[in-house]
Amino acid sequence: MTLVNVPLQCSTRPLSAKVQTILREASAREQQFTSNRPLGFRGFVPSCHETVFRALEIIEQDALAPGTSFCEWGSGLGVATLLAGVLGFDAYGIEIDRGLLDAAREMAGQFEIAAEFVHGSYVPSGADLLIDKAYARCSGELSLVTEADDAYETLGMDIRDFDLVFNYPWPNDEYLTAALFDKFASDGALLLTYLGLENVRLRRKETSPHPARRRHK
Ligand SMILES: C[S@@+](CC[C@H](N)C(=O)[O-])C[C@H]1O[C@@H](n2cnc3c(N)ncnc32)[C@H](O)[C@@H]1O
Repeated sequence: MTLVNVPLQCSTRPLSAKVQTILREASAREQQFTSNRPLGFRGFVPSCHETVFRALEIIEQDALAPGTSFCEWGSGLGVATLLAGVLGFDAYGIEIDRGLLDAAREMAGQFEIAAEFVHGSYVPSGADLLIDKAYARCSGELSLVTEADDAYETLGMDIRDFDLVFNYPWPNDEYLTAALFDKFASDGALLLTYLGLENVRLRRKETSPHPARRRHK
């Protein structure tokens, strides 16, 4: 892998009224989607959006991403995408579940945030070998959808076009999502991962020395 950890001290600033309202609305909507889940459900589980927002705020404030293009892989209700939009990122979400997708679009309208949500898979075509490897590593127990058509054509964009990708993988999916980013993202792009229990990890794809470091040589 060419993913390098980027130290991240999450912001502790007070949340704006708009962000607080979005978090409240998200929490109410999440109840509807998660209250009747069957036992052993392996689909939508929301991240801690405040933790993710605080990470995004620092990434934006310290200009850690090489640009402003953001994509949430498996956007669920789209909250991280909306919060990225509030912070000024060009925000996109990809989601396989149409009910969640509709709810995310509805919230974008409700809060007048210019975020785009598309239906499909964030797993790009051409990832078959990585998928096979991932299945082998986790004894055939992946939770993410690997059989659907990818959403990049609908978006008119490519993984290479995103400066920052956010993903909350189930633990058994973590290897595959990182491997996909490692193979398909552009050099210098960032992968923000929610790990559960209010923890996030930020990594940068570095196939060549990072420009900031080169300047010091
Ligand atoms: C653990 S939930 C995280 C939701 C959201 N990112 C959050 O942080 O609250 C994972 C989401 O990924 C979606 N998903 C699974 N496989 C996918 C795929 N191949 N492409 C797009 N979405 C997918 C699920 O439907 C679910 O909404």
